[in-house]
Amino acid sequence: MSWFLDPVGSYGLFSGQSACFLPISKWLLSTGVTDRRETPLQKTIRYYIREMVFFVKSPETQTAETYNFKFKPMNPNDTFTLAHLSDPHMAYPGGSRFSDFLNKRFFGYLKWRLRRQSEHHGDVLVRMIQDVRNCQPDHVVVTGDLTHLGLPAEFAKAKELLEALGSASQVTIIPGNHDAYVDGALDCRLLEWVDYMVSDGIKVCDGTDTVVSSLFPSLRVRDGVALIGVSTAQPCSTFLAVGCIGNDQLQRLQKILVETGQKDLFRIVLIHHPPKSGVVSWRKRLTDAEALQKTMQDYGAELILHGHSHHPSRTYLETSHGRIPVIGVPSASAAGEDPRRRARYHLYRLSRRPDGWDIQVSVRSYVHKEKCFDTEDKYRLAD
Ligand SMILES: [Fe+2]
Ligand SMILES: [Fe+2]
Repeated sequence: MSWFLDPVGSYGLFSGQSACFLPISKWLLSTGVTDRRETPLQKTIRYYIREMVFFVKSPETQTAETYNFKFKPMNPNDTFTLAHLSDPHMAYPGGSRFSDFLNKRFFGYLKWRLRRQSEHHGDVLVRMIQDVRNCQPDHVVVTGDLTHLGLPAEFAKAKELLEALGSASQVTIIPGNHDAYVDGALDCRLLEWVDYMVSDGIKVCDGTDTVVSSLFPSLRVRDGVALIGVSTAQPCSTFLAVGCIGNDQLQRLQKILVETGQKDLFRIVLIHHPPKSGVVSWRKRLTDAEALQKTMQDYGAELILHGHSHHPSRTYLETSHGRIPVIGVPSASAAGEDPRRRARYHLYRLSRRPDGWDIQVSVRSYVHKEKCFDTEDKYRLAD
């Protein structure tokens, strides 16, 4: 079945000076120059391209302070609808090189064949995409694990998924641990997704390690809603699926939370690993969850959305700013022999109230018999 539903041109963010680097970077990607087995000459070419990109925009300047946004808070009569889906785990091991599997992927592939292949179905994902499109949300977020083994073919298929969901200005993604499955997997293919990740007003044309780390936390503002992306994706050893934010990213996150809070925006933090303990097992945890919790307690947010758990979860972070809802969704492609793990996505209807925010949640879940998505539950989050 083809994943290619409705492609939308998605390099609209590239313009001006950076535009000249894009064709070069795309060419390098297509010829495999950005792969890790590159020659010294190819490495040198990539190094200088990266340096040129940094000359155009230094990562140190990528704070909310310098973004040329119209920070307009939401009007009382306006509503904003956000769709949240996660963990599609698109697996395409066929056609890969034998050498691609001489690492953690070998065990990941075995596990896929033995168990997960029967859990994740491409046609469930296609139906979810169609249902999301029918609901016409103002924006869509995908919280990681778009790929399963971080293979180049999976990154390409995931790009088709994103294009089917909408344009880069309508869809925001963050990576998950499966996207960074082995060292270099995410960095080498970043260029395919970067326009769905990058902050408003930032131009990035190269998919190198340093650029990846400078992308997050990302900030996109849509109709008074601040979408703040945090990356926890990192390669880890064979039987672990842990994530880490890191001090540098946390410090930049604090600044963004302060500035978007002062502008009275509705702040949504997007993160792959759940920030609260107990949602996933120890081997899948966020290693610096306590530091993130402290940040949220000090600087606040209105909502935290995550993936990774593959089951629905709703918890709260208690802070001096009030309770922050922390909500996760199951995998977007789970056929769901176990009903709890069946594919679901959430629609958030956000609006202003005189005393705060109104957050209505609609849970759309996969119905086996009809092979379609339907509303399973509706509830309201109190702030
Ligand atoms: Fe996942
Ligand atoms: Fe994950």
